Amino acid sequence: MPELTGLLQSRRDFLMHTAAGGLGVFAADLLATEQALAQVEFPSPATSLSVTGHRFVQVTFNVNGVSQTMDIDPRVVLVDVLREHLALTGTKKGCDQGQCGACTVLVDGQRVLSCLTLTAGLDGRRITTIEGLAEGDRLHPVQAAFIKHDAFQCGYCTPGQICSAVGMLAEAQRGHVSHVTEDVATPVSRLSDDEIRERMSGNICRCGAYPGIVAAVQEVHSGRRAAQLWEFAPPTQSATAAKEAGHETV
Ligand code: FES
Ligand code: FES
Repeated sequence: MPELTGLLQSRRDFLMHTAAGGLGVFAADLLATEQALAQVEFPSPATSLSVTGHRFVQVTFNVNGVSQTMDIDPRVVLVDVLREHLALTGTKKGCDQGQCGACTVLVDGQRVLSCLTLTAGLDGRRITTIEGLAEGDRLHPVQAAFIKHDAFQCGYCTPGQICSAVGMLAEAQRGHVSHVTEDVATPVSRLSDDEIRERMSGNICRCGAYPGIVAAVQEVHSGRRAAQLWEFAPPTQSATAAKEAGHETV
């Protein structure tokens, strides 16, 4: 029995010493790492290293007609570069995982989800965002049609919807077929409303402005002028009286 007690005692001592030794090694390691890190001078972005040690990549692309050269972390997606670096906040971030279409922009005329597009891969490409569609004061036909058909409510999805529609109409012109195209051997010359719905189905509108969106895209696609179904309310008597008295109303 005394032998057994001594054996257990020495085993416990052994375990305690081992644990203490392990902790000591771990603490020494930690200390050494901290000391090493304290001596590291993290380079600024201009030296092509991010704070996490990742290399920056130099990318030159054209955004809305303006050439941009940037040193960027290769993990950064286009929506963040547009919004955070170039202050082009028209492009919206919704789900940030390719599900809603709010971040849609055009790259060389083709619609892409900018939340899933690595900016480092866009060297030499031409990017168009909602800010770059109009020509001066002249709205792009799809923008004008969205206003005419009241194709939005809160407007959050609208930049993505419009960029997507512009890209989709170009795809249709190039003869792309869709899931609802009945005869894929014959180029689609005229998009039905179902075709438009299907081709725009990657762009979600939480306000449910779909009827207006389809009508707007259909008008631009078909060239058939549709009537505008809304108008500004006439000014109230008090607003007219205030205007005559030289007071501004809002
Ligand atoms: S934010 Fe890109 S698809 Fe939703
Ligand atoms: S207009 Fe509000 S989400 Fe589409």
